[in-house]
Amino acid sequence: MPDSVLITGCTMGGAGSGIALAFQARGLHVFATARSMAKLAHLSSLPNVTCLQLDVTSSASIAKAVAIVNKTGDGTLKYLVNNAGVGMVMPILDTDIDEGKQMFEANFWGPVAMIKAFAPMIVEAKGTIVNVGSGAGSLPFIWIGVYAASKAAFNLLSETLRLELEPLGVNVVTVVLGSVKTNFFSDIQSSWRLPLGSYCRTMEEVMIDKVNGSDFTPGTIDGEGVGKQICNDILAGKKGNLYRGKDAWQVPFIGLAPGFILDFISKDKGLIKQFRVGKNE
Ligand SMILES: NC(=O)c1ccc[n+]([C@@H]2O[C@H](COP(=O)([O-])OP(=O)(O)OC[C@H]3O[C@@H](n4cnc5c(N)ncnc54)[C@H](OP(=O)(O)O)[C@@H]3O)[C@@H](O)[C@H]2O)c1
Repeated sequence: MPDSVLITGCTMGGAGSGIALAFQARGLHVFATARSMAKLAHLSSLPNVTCLQLDVTSSASIAKAVAIVNKTGDGTLKYLVNNAGVGMVMPILDTDIDEGKQMFEANFWGPVAMIKAFAPMIVEAKGTIVNVGSGAGSLPFIWIGVYAASKAAFNLLSETLRLELEPLGVNVVTVVLGSVKTNFFSDIQSSWRLPLGSYCRTMEEVMIDKVNGSDFTPGTIDGEGVGKQICNDILAGKKGNLYRGKDAWQVPFIGLAPGFILDFISKDKGLIKQFRVGKNE
């Protein structure tokens, strides 16, 4: 039996789909999962791929996936890739607390629940848990503060888990992603609006630019490209933090830069200069 890998958030065009395609091409049995089966149609006819509906914020959905993996093939799982996540572009003062909590459910508590549920299989296989974090979790970027906080928490949890699971023979990898051209911003666009009365109204156009994916400048790698890199990394047995996606290579140097340079980067290359608190006429 080939080794098995389960990947969350495999919607077409995203990083999860790219990771699934790359593992499938390398001959593994792939459990490709998404919130909706319709989003897995592009993978469903490939050999060695089992498509599963899985919402990482639902314990019932996770339990169902565990039961199916247990019953498929030899019932083992070597690799778990926690890729699913949602973004949010919103000034902190304008963030709806319930929406922020839902985002933490998807980006932090959901993956924790996945790790706990699949741990017996991963420990048994002396396998690898791959957690997709973000470079955004390393700097206080304006307007994505709550998203970045969820990823900062996840990045740290993942590295702590690596130390805790090392004695059990389990490898834990944190993929610190930079920009990758996926559906990430189009998902945010569908519902994005700045609340009336926001202190940031004078900056709305610049924010809309960010929501529209201005981060995806030419040369940004796509989901398939980064999926191949991540698959190669994992099968090569890499450990710890991996920096993938556009500009992610800069993340390890963040601690070395003086504070005023970090502030300049965090304020979106000086755009904040146009921001005038209270001028919301
Ligand atoms: N793209 C970037 O520049 C970038 C940068 C840094 C980090 N990341 C991280 O990379 C990962 C992949 O994102 P992506 O860029 O490939 O974006 P994407 O194309 O929007 O993919 C995100 C995937 O997560 C799924 N998802 C969201 N909530 C879920 C839930 N509760 N349960 C299960 N699946 C859920 C989405 O499903 P639906 O299709 O149903 O919404 C989608 O399949 C995320 O963790 C993201 O935070 C991305």
